[in-house]
Order: sequence, then structure tokens, then C-alpha cells
Amino acid sequence: MHVTLRQLTVFESVARNLSFTQAAEELFLSQPAVSMQIKQLEQNLEVMLLDRVGKRTYLTESGREVKATCKRITHLLNELETVLDNLKNLKAGKLHLTVASTANYFLPAILAVFKQRLPQISIALNVTNRKNLLEALDDNDVDLVIMGQPPEDRDLEAGVFALNPLVIVANSDHELAAQSRVPLQRLKDEIFLVREQGSGTRIAMERFFHEQGIRMKTGMVADSNEAIKQSVAAGLGLGLLSHDTLAMELQLNYLTILDVIDMPIIRKWHIVHRAGKRLSRSAAVFKDFLLDEGETILGGPDRFASQT
Ligand code: PGA
Repeated sequence: MHVTLRQLTVFESVARNLSFTQAAEELFLSQPAVSMQIKQLEQNLEVMLLDRVGKRTYLTESGREVKATCKRITHLLNELETVLDNLKNLKAGKLHLTVASTANYFLPAILAVFKQRLPQISIALNVTNRKNLLEALDDNDVDLVIMGQPPEDRDLEAGVFALNPLVIVANSDHELAAQSRVPLQRLKDEIFLVREQGSGTRIAMERFFHEQGIRMKTGMVADSNEAIKQSVAAGLGLGLLSHDTLAMELQLNYLTILDVIDMPIIRKWHIVHRAGKRLSRSAAVFKDFLLDEGETILGGPDRFASQT
């Protein structure tokens, strides 16, 4: 069998995106160049890998087999990169982090200190929600993940590095903004703006209201913390968000944390990877750094004390 790694890389991208155009964009190639690589791969393997019906692209049964093999090859190559990275000087390593969208707000401050210490390590950051993080962990597509509470039904190694209080916020003109010790029951008449299904923040919020026996009224659903904050500020409802997302709005007095009895919900930030995963040296060093110094860099566990 004569196939090249290039052909397999191009096929993997087409098969994952089910689109020649997207694969071309991802690989910085022209669309004819992508088509040519696929055609040559099909000729070399003497099978059809893709079907085109109208404008849509489908994988044939052989295509699905080749896609699965491409994935295994990619993992082996990544492992090889890790091993070689470990043999080389740490300073030239790569750190690939995948983080929950909410972690996006505080992580840059931590990365800035890490980068000062080890400037040669190149860092790649992917930001997505909890559901996608868990799928990526299942598929062994990620090295290190930063998320809220990791699930217990998976074989993961997780360490806590910082607190993550979730608070209820309102537009600063809201009638509850000036009140203290608001009973939770009072909130059942309010509209809550909620994150998308699959968000860790949303899961924690639903669980909390369920445990407290309160049926919350939900208004708009939005798939980003920014959209929730803007909508709360515009008076569309209340939001329940990680305190870590609010630094700027609180400073500008744009949003107010409501003083609600039994709030905040205290969650914790975890650094997570698959149990037994061979981490690159740069990933292992970053993990230790985060566990040892993460909370301090963010201002210590008391950093929320005056506002929650
Ligand atoms: P989210 O994650 O950004 O998906 O809400 C935060 C979390 O896991 O707590």
C-alpha cells in the first residue's frame, strides 16, 4: 500500500469537517489541492472514501475505516512529539491547554506569569464549554483541561487549584441590587438568563435551584458569559455566573452581585487529564505550577471576600 502522511492529513481534515472548503481553510491549501490529495489517496487505496450528494459530502464505509485509522496515527504522532519534547530541553516545549469558556477570564493572568518563567514554551489555548471538553477527553484529543467539577464516572486525574464562586448578578438599577440578605424564595418571580445546555455553569445553577426546591423562570439562553452579562446589563433578567467572569463589570459598577442568602454557590477550578496519560514535560511542569501557585496569582482564596 502506498499512501503518504500528507494524503492522510488532508483526508482526516475533510472527513472531520465533511467539507473540502473547510479542510482547505484549515490546512491553508487551495480547494483543488485538497481534491487532488483525496483523489490520489483513493487511487492508491483503490477504494472510494467520500460520496458527494448534491453539495454535501459523506464518508463511505471505507472512508469511516480510514478516518478511524487516521485518528490512531495522529495520536501516535502526538505521543511521539511528547516523547521527543521530553528528550529535548524543556524550554523548547509546547503546552496545549483546553479550557472551559469561563476559565478564559482568569487563565491569561496565570499564563503571563508562567510565560515569564519559561518564555520559550509555546502555548496553544482552546476555549470551549464543559460538554465539548468532556468529549475531547473521551476521544483523547486533549492534553490538559481546565474545568469546573469533573465527572466521577470517568477515569480522570483532577487537582483543585482555585475557588470558583458562582454569584447572582443584576443590572445595577434592579430593585434587589440595594437589598441585603435577599431570601432565595424571592427569586422565583425573577427571570434568569441561562447559559447553553452543556455549560458547567448552567448545570451547577440548575442543580442548585433544584436542591433548594425552587423552580426558576428562565428567559433567554445564550452560549457565552459575555452575552449573559450584556443581557443582564440591558435589563433582560438576572444572571448566575462565575465571579471570575465579572471583574470588569464590577469595577465599572455596571452589574451588581445580589446579596442572596445561601449564595454564592462554591465551586472549584480543576486541572484535569486522562488517568495514566503521558504528559509532555511542559504540560507536567505547568500542571505543578498551576496547583502550587494558581490561586495565589489570582489573588488568594480571599479575593472574593468583599464582594460575595
Ligand atoms: P462553562 O464551564 O464555561 O462550560 O460554564 C464552567 C465550569 O465547568 O464550571
